[in-house]
Amino acid sequence: MKTIKGSEELLLGIDIGTQGVKAGIISPDGNLILSTSKAYPTFTPSSGWAEQEPSHWWQATVEAVREICLNNPTEARKISGVGLSGQMHGSVVLDGENRPLRPCILWCDQRTSSQCEEIREILGNERLFSVVSNPALPGFTAPKLLWIREHEPDIFQKISRILLPKDYINFMLTGNAVTDFSDASGTLLFDVKNRRWSNEVIAELGLPENIFPPIIESVHVAGYVSEEASKLTGIPRGIPVAGGAADNAASAVGMGVITPESLAVSIGSSGTVLAPSKVPLADPGMRIHSFCHAVPDTWYLMGVMLSAGLSLRWFLDTLGEPEASNAKQSGEDPYSLLDRTAQKAHPGCGGLIFLPYLSGERTPHGDPHAKGVLFGLDLTKRRSEVIRSIMEGVAFGLKDSLTLMSKLGVSPKLVISGGGGSRSKLWRKILADVFGFPIIACSQSDTAMLGAALLAGVSAGTFDSIEDACEMCVSYTDKIDPDPSNLKTYERNYQIYKELYPALKDLFQKSFENY
Ligand code: XUL
Repeated sequence: MKTIKGSEELLLGIDIGTQGVKAGIISPDGNLILSTSKAYPTFTPSSGWAEQEPSHWWQATVEAVREICLNNPTEARKISGVGLSGQMHGSVVLDGENRPLRPCILWCDQRTSSQCEEIREILGNERLFSVVSNPALPGFTAPKLLWIREHEPDIFQKISRILLPKDYINFMLTGNAVTDFSDASGTLLFDVKNRRWSNEVIAELGLPENIFPPIIESVHVAGYVSEEASKLTGIPRGIPVAGGAADNAASAVGMGVITPESLAVSIGSSGTVLAPSKVPLADPGMRIHSFCHAVPDTWYLMGVMLSAGLSLRWFLDTLGEPEASNAKQSGEDPYSLLDRTAQKAHPGCGGLIFLPYLSGERTPHGDPHAKGVLFGLDLTKRRSEVIRSIMEGVAFGLKDSLTLMSKLGVSPKLVISGGGGSRSKLWRKILADVFGFPIIACSQSDTAMLGAALLAGVSAGTFDSIEDACEMCVSYTDKIDPDPSNLKTYERNYQIYKELYPALKDLFQKSFENY
């Protein structure tokens, strides 16, 4: 049993997610003492676009943290460190007075296909592979900057600094503009192997070097809560704020996925399969991402699907009126009600198969024009099968990433599930059956927020290292074994799932040209 240094200390984790901000205070033995969340809107000014206002993130952060601190002054006084995690790749462009020049273009925005083409032409795939270690895909930060330069030259001229989403909140808390290695990895302007900005790539794309912030380790102190931020949020002034991490890296920390033995499968808005590595690896096929972990001298490979939880959210928003209104009346979570309906369907849904490409797809297709498809509808299909097929389709998409990663040598001993979707036991069971692996569940589902708090704990000296923090604070609830009687059904559906995209690829493109 380890001793807890300064057991009076508490740690504040803040996750700047896509749906909203989550803030929570944990004790140094990993108990979540208080937490809250505040939502903000996503704007879609044009099909395939996705933007948010940095001021909304800040307002939501202030409201969430203030609610925690003002209602619990004793706990607030004990906060000894703050850590941030955030959605990756978003471009927060600031003017000389550090004011956002335009809304942030998000990770799931698909407007930059032609800028990605331009990047591929300038750098060539070989250098993307050897220097940046990642493919040029629309969600990344560099093509967003090229898009702003081309379409909004007046704004581009005024950019004096670019920050990633969590770094903007870090800046608002401390007045210091920095980023960390895990978030810089998703810009496409970063040398992942050598953990530094690639000045060569920045110059070749004609971007000004001086707009990029210094990079620090996730567990190093980025700054201290300023007097003004303290007044707004209630966090005591002068508390250290850690560099923090990209949400996927922070979430992996919160799941204890920090060595190559374990693999993280997360269902948040996006869906990710993340495998840590002690050496930098990259996919010669350029379908898997290669990023720096929040853990020093550690990297990870990651497959990303753009609409995992978002697919179910889409169903709830557009066709989920029965569950939404029942939930309002009973006070239950609408997703638990969707779960209950889905349980009425049999595994495999009688051949109903969902392609979850509602925002295009990254892994494995790298196709911004791919679309969602419900294949196999007939008069026998019920609502329960539609909902369950969405969950199964997301599991198939995640399996695509796992298959590619196995080819790159990933062979984990433990598969751990996290993210909001992993609260559903049914979804975890589907994952176990589709993957053919036991799936372990974390005690906390807000793993990015927990990871951010653990990084805060290391930077504030509560823990000696991320390894210590995980040992103290990360715990697991259940393990679901694959059910042999379902494996064949899922394998049959997965084979059809895999053939659907190539069969429809050209039609997706045609439909994009028409609309
Ligand atoms: C990862 C990615 C998403 C976002 C979601 O490359 O784009 O997982 O980080 O917040």
